Amino acid sequence: MPIQVAPSILAADFGRLAEEVQAAEQAGADWIHVDVMDGRFVQEITMGPVVARAVRRATRLPMAVHLMTVEPERHLAAFARAGATSVFVHAEACQHLYLTLGQIAALGMRPSVALNPATPPAQVEYVLPLVGAVLVMTVEPGEGGQAFIPEMLRKIRALADLRASLGLAFEVEVDGGITPTTAPAAVEAGATVLVAGTAVFGAADGVAAAIARLRAAAGGPAARRTGRGDASSG
Ligand code: DX5
Ligand code: ZN
Repeated sequence: MPIQVAPSILAADFGRLAEEVQAAEQAGADWIHVDVMDGRFVQEITMGPVVARAVRRATRLPMAVHLMTVEPERHLAAFARAGATSVFVHAEACQHLYLTLGQIAALGMRPSVALNPATPPAQVEYVLPLVGAVLVMTVEPGEGGQAFIPEMLRKIRALADLRASLGLAFEVEVDGGITPTTAPAAVEAGATVLVAGTAVFGAADGVAAAIARLRAAAGGPAARRTGRGDASSG
């Protein structure tokens, strides 16, 4: 599977949000990742459907909404109206995960599930046929700029193995502490989508250079074309 890059706008300059999103699109990003935090599932409060709609208007890229909220089912229709392509709900936040994933699909969005670091893959095994993607949190959710948790590599591998043994095709995404240094091991373990906030929007040399570095590190098409693939290049 080709590696996809999903910049998280959590690390963007919100005063220039549309420009930041457009820079990511021009740099060849595959998704825009929108981190919704409610002050309850996690401490922080970030953004809701109003900001998601502004992102929708700024880009043609598919928009993934990562709901770090309690009772995520209460917000699905609002994010569908805001133009979300895909919605991640946390397995830990869903009383009836199977039902909620079905509701996301019924609203015309791609049903996807996110796992906190302590949550085992077995918790979602029986809903895997319903999902387009599983998001492995490689940090504790709640803030950007944290360090990648290496133990999560084993979880990525377990999900990639389940994907193969069940004959499914869901993406395995990684989110948290993804940089040109940590991305290669995640991809090697089976990750197919890299979510990155700080490494993209925090880069001193700009979004385009940052995305190129991530792709090169992940060994994607850009790396093969240019011959760059040095994980330490960023
Ligand atoms: C964390 C969010 C992430 C965050 C990643 O709770 O889910 O998407 O933006 O930020 P970095 O890439 O800085 O770790
Ligand atoms: Zn996220």
